[in-house]
Amino acid sequence: MNDSGTFWLPEAASTVAAEVDGLFYFVYWASAIIFVGVVAAMIYLAYKYRRRDPNDRPEPVEESRLLEISWIVVPTILVLLVFTWGFQTFVTLQTAPPNAYQIQGQAYSYGWNFEYPEGAQTTDELYLPADRPVQVRLSSREGDVLHSFYLPQFRVKQDVLPNRYTSVWFEATEPGTYELFCTEYCGVGHSQMLGEVNVLPADEFDEWVAEAGINEDELSLVELGELQYQRNGCQGCHSLDGSAMAGPTFQGLYASERAFADASSVEADENYLRESIIEPDAKVVEGYGSGIMPSFAHLSERDVTALVEFIKEQQ
Ligand code: CUA
Repeated sequence: MNDSGTFWLPEAASTVAAEVDGLFYFVYWASAIIFVGVVAAMIYLAYKYRRRDPNDRPEPVEESRLLEISWIVVPTILVLLVFTWGFQTFVTLQTAPPNAYQIQGQAYSYGWNFEYPEGAQTTDELYLPADRPVQVRLSSREGDVLHSFYLPQFRVKQDVLPNRYTSVWFEATEPGTYELFCTEYCGVGHSQMLGEVNVLPADEFDEWVAEAGINEDELSLVELGELQYQRNGCQGCHSLDGSAMAGPTFQGLYASERAFADASSVEADENYLRESIIEPDAKVVEGYGSGIMPSFAHLSERDVTALVEFIKEQQ
């Protein structure tokens, strides 16, 4: 599709996009034509029947059956047309083909994780095959808030909820890079909750997905820690380069002196790091708020140890 988009809508890159756009532009142009017609008639009639003399009295208006029927019938037809068209498009958007490729998506404050049937996992990057229906099953991380999954070029948008699955399907028509937005205000990091959609030709996608499957048991603790750092969204609040975000940077954190609001302090050893992952509010460094970081008590022992080892590497 060689369509670079308009002022109203970005380029169209999925099979359902044409249907959505057709309906959108029908409503848009119908509204524009009716608006111009009504305003023009109003101005013309106001001028034509303006009062010319203080003694002017309006003539009695005679009822026009034809006019009255037409202003009931024409809008009814327009409204029913938009309803039928919209309902059909809605059903298409809701009914995934049974052979759709299944991807699991998890939203968290503030990012996206995707998991593919072959074992690959990605963060803030969604990989898809072109010309093949894809269904993304979405949920928000337990204890997290609502987000919304929006692919503007594909014309699909779906709320993402904690403790419940929702799903969305589409078929990309053109390999390329597209945008993923969170489109529900979810907190301070909402505007950064972005992702990239990479649509690959079918054979390239098969190659990618075969290579991207990672066997965690074969990773070293530091490598696994880096993976967990990305997968759990730690990077949303903890930088590796010393810059301050919602949480303290990991650079130089290990073995440093941590000062707390009550004027006490400890050295950041392994047990301190571990406690801060499992029970983030136990010791909150001065200058940072409590209740911001969720607990990661659900991580396995090896994952927690891997994160600790990864943080120790950031000197
Ligand atoms: Cu997530 Cu806005």
